Amino acid sequence: MKKIGTITLLLTCFIALSQQKTIDEKVNALLKQMTLEEKIGQLNQYTGNNQATGPITINPNKETEIKKGLIGSMLNVIGTKYTRQYQELAMQSRLKIPLLFGQDVVHGYKTTFPIPLAEAASWDLAAMELSARIAAVEASASGIHWTFAPMVDIARDPRWGRVMEGAGEDTYLGSKIAYARVKGFQEKLGNVNSVMACVKHFAAYGAAIGGRDYNSVDMSERMLWETYLPPFKSALDAGAATFMNSFNDLNGIPATGNKYLQRDILKEKWNFQGFVVSDWGSIGEMVNHGYSKDTKEAALQAITAGSDMDMESNAYRYHLAELVQENKVPITLIDDAVKRILRKKFELGLFDNPYKYSNLEREQAAMNNPEHRKAARIIAAKSIVLLKNVIPSAREKNILPLSKDTKTIAFIGPLVKEHKQNMGFWAVELPELDYNTQVVSQWEGVKNKVGSSSKLLYAKGCEIDGDNKDGFAEAVAIANQADIVILSIGERADMSGEAKSRSNIHLPGVQEELVKAIQATGKPVVVLINAGRPLVFNWTADNVPAILYTWWLGSEAGNAIADVLFGDYNPSGKLPMTFPRAEGQIPIYYNHFNTGRPAPNDTAFNYVSAYTDLNNSPKFPFGYGLSYTTFEYSDLKLSKNKIKSTEKITVSLHVKNSGNVAGEEVVQLYLRDKVGSVVRPIIELKDFQKIQLNAGETKVLEFIIDKEKLSFYNAALQWITEPGDFDLMIGSSSTDIRLKNTFELVK
Ligand code: GLC
Repeated sequence: MKKIGTITLLLTCFIALSQQKTIDEKVNALLKQMTLEEKIGQLNQYTGNNQATGPITINPNKETEIKKGLIGSMLNVIGTKYTRQYQELAMQSRLKIPLLFGQDVVHGYKTTFPIPLAEAASWDLAAMELSARIAAVEASASGIHWTFAPMVDIARDPRWGRVMEGAGEDTYLGSKIAYARVKGFQEKLGNVNSVMACVKHFAAYGAAIGGRDYNSVDMSERMLWETYLPPFKSALDAGAATFMNSFNDLNGIPATGNKYLQRDILKEKWNFQGFVVSDWGSIGEMVNHGYSKDTKEAALQAITAGSDMDMESNAYRYHLAELVQENKVPITLIDDAVKRILRKKFELGLFDNPYKYSNLEREQAAMNNPEHRKAARIIAAKSIVLLKNVIPSAREKNILPLSKDTKTIAFIGPLVKEHKQNMGFWAVELPELDYNTQVVSQWEGVKNKVGSSSKLLYAKGCEIDGDNKDGFAEAVAIANQADIVILSIGERADMSGEAKSRSNIHLPGVQEELVKAIQATGKPVVVLINAGRPLVFNWTADNVPAILYTWWLGSEAGNAIADVLFGDYNPSGKLPMTFPRAEGQIPIYYNHFNTGRPAPNDTAFNYVSAYTDLNNSPKFPFGYGLSYTTFEYSDLKLSKNKIKSTEKITVSLHVKNSGNVAGEEVVQLYLRDKVGSVVRPIIELKDFQKIQLNAGETKVLEFIIDKEKLSFYNAALQWITEPGDFDLMIGSSSTDIRLKNTFELVK
């Protein structure tokens, strides 16, 4: 059997190699026919007219330039009709090289999924892969070849609005999610329902100083390699077809012109064979950075550094030919970039059929697929994080889950009846989409759930921002008539996202005062917090008995929230980012160093690393999330307590659902490397398993500790292990450690 397997594998490799050889031969043959102008055309990308996602440069000649073969790709062209129209223009060009259509399909195309940070809270890699898969099926059915996703920027600063777009603060979790999302988008590149992924933003964009978007990034190479690069490598290991560079300068050199990032690391050390697209206008913006004296120099620096395609800055369009003629840019650099792009167009099958992805029937079928909405509802429910569920005074049990027989429910807040808000930032704007029918509001979700068995009362209470409290009286009045109050508050969807950094991440407006007014009625209150980032809401967190963090959950938001509120889905989300008590704590993240003067407890501040005016701990820690049931961890066993770096430890433990309802638990494995040649974090996530347990059920879990989990970058940037003691911790969050043990790594 083994022999047949080997033969099959060899045959598959030979076929793939011969296909690749064929594609390379076709690329080289085509390249030989191309003029310099046509080559540069392939490096040029313009936006269409749907949903501008950057500062637009008006170019009235786009269509003419496409017919001349001077544009290789478009973004923001939505739908079969329009992609076909533009492709027909490209087919009038001399060499008929098809256009690539790219789009920010970040969390769904027509069926919108939870924002990526919310999905990350599900810790369900299969669900996130499915979400990307469905997004690819719908997008590719509309003529899109390429999504500008996944965004894999590690983010430790919730003032940065783009935290909503990634997977949070942890490198291990972020790397696993990056891999899953690329696999979901691409599945088998060249299949008609797959799209190219674009791993962004390369690199370290999430470390913008002050959490201010587009701001400078300054960090040690060691931190770059240990914390910020691994998710990009993981995405590449998943086969990512393209990368996008980032707006920020990194240690003084803009990423777009950064040879170390794009050539030395990505294309040489990691042997990346795809292509790099600039971010919107980022080539031209190197003039603003003060790195280029003009866009001509920016073009020279960017192409030299390995930025293959120019999104919307016209630098390549207007200056590359001249730079080649002046012998400042060798034609080999241009040819390398062109070949990388042409190779992808061949792999996608666009030369065989330029209209392969622009098929009306397929588009109509994909856009109306109930299975997609079902999947969106499930992952949305999985993304919700139960932050609190205590028994309020004068009651004998938790408020959640709510009973479907609750006689009267007051549903209050500025987000209760909203539709489009639930889509969050980076939802694809489809012109024909009727949000009132395509998005389930929270009101509709609860209505669908309780039907006529409960009386639902509504009051807006207040706006999301502003200081008008005129609506409080009405809200209090209906709360007094109700048995239970649900309050839905938070940000506006466009308060998190690109260019949405906030210095103050408290609940906007007078919403927390509304919470106080409703809480003062003495009625049992459940608060839903809708946001694209961690917010600060200390009074609500300290005084309200039940809180669900509902992020922005997409098309099925209302139904998913109702599933959790009424217990049809037992919440299982865990925070992918630390929630601060105040903006003054930021950056605050769980896997920090100990320092020479660690604070021994939450309130110490004398001669220790702490604030004199605030507790040291976060409001809610990384990995935190409650359930309607409880889980007991026991019987932690290590196969060895002393290993060499070539050996492995098998870790086993029991997890029991000790409550009376089924539920899922994310069992987290953390390590601490006690002593190193560079200081090591006090705790690091190294593995996790999300398990489903019926009430009373016990499962035995196994984890493997191997060399990879014990390795780190030393001061010389070597990926190494060092002998010494390790703490092993198994937790339900990064601070709720249930089981501990130690082991020693020996030479
Ligand atoms: C934006 C974003 C990037 C996006 C691109 C195209 O400025 O930074 O993430 O993919 O432009 O919309």
